[in-house]
Order: sequence, then structure tokens, then C-alpha cells
Amino acid sequence: MSLALRVFRAASFPLSGVSVDGDVASGTPSLTTSHRSLFKSDQSKTQPSTVTKFLLRRKWKEFLELRKSQENVILRYVNARSKETTGDVLCYVDTLLNLEIPTEEDKEGGKKRKLSESEIVSLCSEFLNAATDPTATSMQWILAIMVKYPEIQRKVYDEMKSVLAGEEEREEIREEDLGKLSYLKAVILECLRRHPPGHYLSYHKVTHDTVLGGFLVPRQGTINFMVGEMGRDPKIWEDPLTFKPERFLENGEAYDFDMTGTREIKMMPFGAGRRMCPGYALSLLHLEYYVANLVWKFEWKCVEGEEVDLSEKQQFITMVMKNPFKANIYPRRK
Ligand code: HEM
Repeated sequence: MSLALRVFRAASFPLSGVSVDGDVASGTPSLTTSHRSLFKSDQSKTQPSTVTKFLLRRKWKEFLELRKSQENVILRYVNARSKETTGDVLCYVDTLLNLEIPTEEDKEGGKKRKLSESEIVSLCSEFLNAATDPTATSMQWILAIMVKYPEIQRKVYDEMKSVLAGEEEREEIREEDLGKLSYLKAVILECLRRHPPGHYLSYHKVTHDTVLGGFLVPRQGTINFMVGEMGRDPKIWEDPLTFKPERFLENGEAYDFDMTGTREIKMMPFGAGRRMCPGYALSLLHLEYYVANLVWKFEWKCVEGEEVDLSEKQQFITMVMKNPFKANIYPRRK
């Protein structure tokens, strides 16, 4: 399933340039944890067993209805796009429509097939959820840090002021300014270390017997990586529970921290290797851009009598704030 995603890593939004009539833009219906649990008993099957369908028939019916409305929303965009490709932008959906994947009989090559509509819907839905959920969650954690530690917010703001020296009244921090904002980058990396939105990766399976850290993982065995724990490992990180952006700076400048795991793995909020998040560069850009502008335009202050509580809560696959923070925001310039 991830073949297309790996090949077309450059895609930034699945349906660029498409417009459709009607009220379908209000969001794609998504499945909840309880619907997904229908599939948990045997992960190698794409359908739950007949017994599960019978025992949980109400959930199964709800699932089928949700899936139908998800298809209705997404397929309208996909079909509109297939009729009016603009030619200048190759978007994610174009790549799915063009893709030909090997079939079971393709051992010798030659027998390929197109993706079905249902597969395209699943891939688009995965893309939309995988992109929005962790980015929004990270954004919330980063802003919570800004409110909890005003001195960190002040440093982020002062850095922007010095980068924009002479243009302090400028409305926007632009994409081209971001490369000069080392401290901001360090805050975001520190937040991904300390509060990664996913504390586990999607589960992975070994294709042959593998020895990992002295343990044998038998063929087809599933393994997972405890991303949250890695970022808090005292053998790797000094004083790991303290929020300290400076650990990502060298002489005050951001250094080339290896996020892909090519040279070393000290943390992996985006995974590592071939199945690493294909959107990691885009999401870092989004986080830097939005946090920079939100702090440039507003001062974020804790609501009087409230405290920012950094306790965590698992919500499906994402680790969110157990008690979302409250803030008053004040425009910095009139
Ligand atoms: C802070 C933001 C984000 C974080 C922390 C994050 C993290 C992750 C992680 C941990 C995985 C699983 C990797 C593995 O199992 O080895 C993943 C997969 C994925 N991510 Fe992200 N992600 C983020 C943003 C995005 C964005 C913006 C996009 C799209 C533009 C995206 C698209 C995907 C897709 C499509 C997959 C599935 C890849 C596959 O199945 O091979 N993610 N992400």
C-alpha cells in the first residue's frame, strides 16, 4: 500500500486544483477507534471474521455506512480530478490514478493492474489523516510550551525581531526567513523529542528471522518502536525530562540534526528508514511557519488562575494533551 506514497513523496496535497459542486468540503468522515477495533483480531486479514461481524453487527453496520459516506466525499474529488488534470501540477491523486501495481500472477512481470476506487479512497483518507492529525497535535504541544514557559516564547520572538531588523512592522514571517530562525527550529525539535504526537510507529513486520538487540524476532513477527521512550532515554539525552531547546543548538546555531536516521537514531518522531513519514519535511515547514507567525502576531499568556498541564492522553494513535491549555492572546502590533 505504501508503494505509491514512497514513489510520490513530493506530493503535498492529494487533490490540488480540483473544484466540485455541492457541500462536500466540510471534511471527510473518519472512523473512530471502536470501528478500527473490528479489524484488530487478525491483522493479516482485511475483513473481520463472520463471527465478529455477527457479534458486533451494530458496529459493523455503522462502519459500512461511514465507509460509504467517506467514499462519497472522496470519490467526487477524485473523479473531478480525473476529468480535469491541469497538467502543470502532478498531484497525489494523479499519481494514484496513473499507478499500475504488480498482481499475484506478475512474478514474471507483465501482469499489472490499476488501483481500485476503494483503494484510492483508503490511500487518500490515510494521507489526509496522517497529515492533519499529528501536525495539529504538535502545534498544540508547541503552543502550550510557549504559554507555560514565557521566557522561551520571548526568545523565539526576540530572534524573529533580530532577523527582521529594520522591518519590525512586517505582517508576516515568510518562508525564506525560517532558515535564519535557529532557536525556533530548536524549540520545535525539542517538542518533537519531548512530546512526539505518536508514541509508537505503525507496527512493522520482519520478512525473515532477525536478531535485534540480541533478541530473535521470528519471520512474520511484528515489532514496534517506542518513540516516546526513545526521546526520554537518559542514556541518550542528558536531563531528558527538562524542556531544553539549546540541546539542538551548537554555538547558538541550529546544526544539521539527523531526523531521517541515516547517520544515527537519537529520536524518531517520524519513524526512520523506508517507511518513514513521507511528509516529514513538509510538516516541519508547516510547524515552523505557523508557530513563527502565531508568535510574531500575538503574545500568548496563560489565563489567570489556570496552569498549563503537560499531562498526556492517548487518543487513538496520537498522544494529545490530557487537559488542553487555555490562553489569552494579545496582538503585538496594532
Ligand atoms: C508533526 C507531523 C507528523 C508526524 C510526527 C508524523 C509521523 C509519522 C509516523 C511516525 C509515521 C509512521 C512511520 C512508520 O511506521 O515507520 C507516519 C506515516 C505517514 N505520514 Fe506522517 N507525520 C507527520 C505529518 C505528516 C504529513 C504533513 C503528511 C502528508 C503530507 C504525512 C503523511 C504520512 C503518510 C502518508 C504516512 C504513511 C506512510 C506509509 O504507510 O509508508 N505525515 N507519519
